[in-house]
Amino acid sequence: MRNSVLFFGFLLAFLGLAVPGTEGKTIRRCELVKILRKHGFEGFKGTTIADWICLVKHESNYNTEAYNDNGPSRDYGIFQINSKYWCNDGKTRGAVNGCRINCSKLLNNNLEDDIKCAKKIAEQARGLTPWYGWKNHCKGKNLSSYVKGC
Ligand SMILES: *[C@@H]1O[C@H](CO)[C@@H](O)[C@H](O)[C@H]1NC(C)=O
Ligand SMILES: *[C@@H]1O[C@H](CO)[C@@H](O)[C@H](O)[C@H]1NC(C)=O
Repeated sequence: MRNSVLFFGFLLAFLGLAVPGTEGKTIRRCELVKILRKHGFEGFKGTTIADWICLVKHESNYNTEAYNDNGPSRDYGIFQINSKYWCNDGKTRGAVNGCRINCSKLLNNNLEDDIKCAKKIAEQARGLTPWYGWKNHCKGKNLSSYVKGC
């Protein structure tokens, strides 16, 4: 009994440590700010870096491997790019593949293709309205906390 309690304690400790251990796929907020600045997101199509950080927070919680199955289509990666219009996952009816990319490439930690595609989406939409995470949580809000200290 005592041993099993001890074991359970270790197991919990391990699981507790394992959560931050997923950092391989979670990008730090200020790191992302830096990357987006480098890629000219500030002022892009009337958006700010804070808009994009807030968008990423609410779409994927900074997880470069974020994946969500919405039934008829799926969302991929840090910007939750959709398989109906922007990437090809080979199983979405009437898919357009506007970014000419295999959706699975949007799940690795190379963000170059995600960034290129996200800019294309914002360009076509003249803003961030295609992203519900942004529309529902960021639009018209004071977003200064998203870039604070970066
Ligand atoms: C996308 O890439 C993956 C991994 O390389 C591959 O298994 C899959 O068949 C590709 N999908 C399409 C639609 O090309
Ligand atoms: C936004 O919030 C920050 C911190 O809470 C505050 O300092 C700043 O004045 C606010 N900006 C506007 C435009 O309200």
